[in-house]
Amino acid sequence: MPLESGARWRASLAQGADRFDGALRLWRHLPLSLGLMIELHDHAKIITVVAGIGGMARAAHNDLQPVQVIRNTTLRQVDGRTTGGRSHHLKPHVFVAMPLAGRYLDQLREHCDVEVFSATQPISPEELAAAIGDADGVLGSAQLLFPTEILDRAPRLRVICNVGVGYDNVDLGELSRRGIALANTPGVLSDAVADLVLGLMIAVARHLRECETIVREGRWGEPGLRIPLGSDLRGKTLSIVGMGRIGREVAARAAAFKMRVLCFDTRPDLVPPPFAERAATLDDALRAGDFISLHVDLNPASRHLIGPREFGLMKASAFLINAARGAVVDQRALYDVLAAQRIAGAGLDVLESEPPTTGDLLLQLDNVFIVPHIGSATVETRAAMVELAIENLVACVTGQPCVNIVNAEAAVATKEVSP
Ligand code: DGY
Repeated sequence: MPLESGARWRASLAQGADRFDGALRLWRHLPLSLGLMIELHDHAKIITVVAGIGGMARAAHNDLQPVQVIRNTTLRQVDGRTTGGRSHHLKPHVFVAMPLAGRYLDQLREHCDVEVFSATQPISPEELAAAIGDADGVLGSAQLLFPTEILDRAPRLRVICNVGVGYDNVDLGELSRRGIALANTPGVLSDAVADLVLGLMIAVARHLRECETIVREGRWGEPGLRIPLGSDLRGKTLSIVGMGRIGREVAARAAAFKMRVLCFDTRPDLVPPPFAERAATLDDALRAGDFISLHVDLNPASRHLIGPREFGLMKASAFLINAARGAVVDQRALYDVLAAQRIAGAGLDVLESEPPTTGDLLLQLDNVFIVPHIGSATVETRAAMVELAIENLVACVTGQPCVNIVNAEAAVATKEVSP
């Protein structure tokens, strides 16, 4: 079972601590045993063997830094049993719902008792429900769902820390009512996502998928081969819908590609960057864009923001880029306009249903370029996201201020949590 939780986990901790105690006793008595053996045998070979065992024990001791944490945890569990069956955590208890490198877990263990889901496949709702009962905080991907049935199983929960900027995996109102904060990782991924957006624009405008297929299929150099001609970015209008951190980074890159940047945002106080213009309405932005890139979060107001009517406003030569959330676009309507070549193409990092089913109609089209939700998927960016999520988690469960709480009204610090 991938989940290191419940009775089996606790039993293995207790066993581990017992073994450690045994090893420690042996280690403490080692000089005495060594002296005795030298006295008894006075034989160089035996000294070597015993010294070797001593070295191994020392090496094992050095490798076992987490043992200290395991022992603490075991003692707490014993405390819990003697005080009426409920775990009595001296440190806040957190559940990490995704595999994390050991160095991150060690960082967390300095402040918290840590339980971790270490399998590579996403945790199932049942596994999450089973693991969350004791948790003061949870850390997981921005795709990890928290329906009310799961929240009902988490009476102590004070914070959910998304490793991601999006938070459509939770019902923010419901979290606030329960006094649970949602923290995210804004900023650290903006460059990576913006880079990918430019990549998608170039991929669709320059037919990279078809061109690469020509090479792989050995057709490069074939007599009569027609290489598809693309479209320049230079001089084209990029309409950016949603001018948050990522939208702004996309704007900066587009300006460097000599594009005209038009931006739309529902926030009236939005000040566009000096090189960009502001569109008065979404419709104006959709009509003017040669490329239209979406950078809004998914909420009830933005679900299917782009549907049949909005596609009807776009130029026939327009490319739609979506690296936000799949459901911001009505995917059936997108299929219809792409299949009818009512718009030129689409570059997508996200889909309404991820991963797509094999029968997903979009996969049958040539004028769409799809990648598997990789906007933030670089080594550096993912590391920065995890580090920020850990910072958020530790701050929230230890009652420190946390600037990345999305629903400040959840009043993290005042939630009553019995020990
Ligand atoms: C985000 O940060 O929200 C990315 O889309 C990953 O889910």
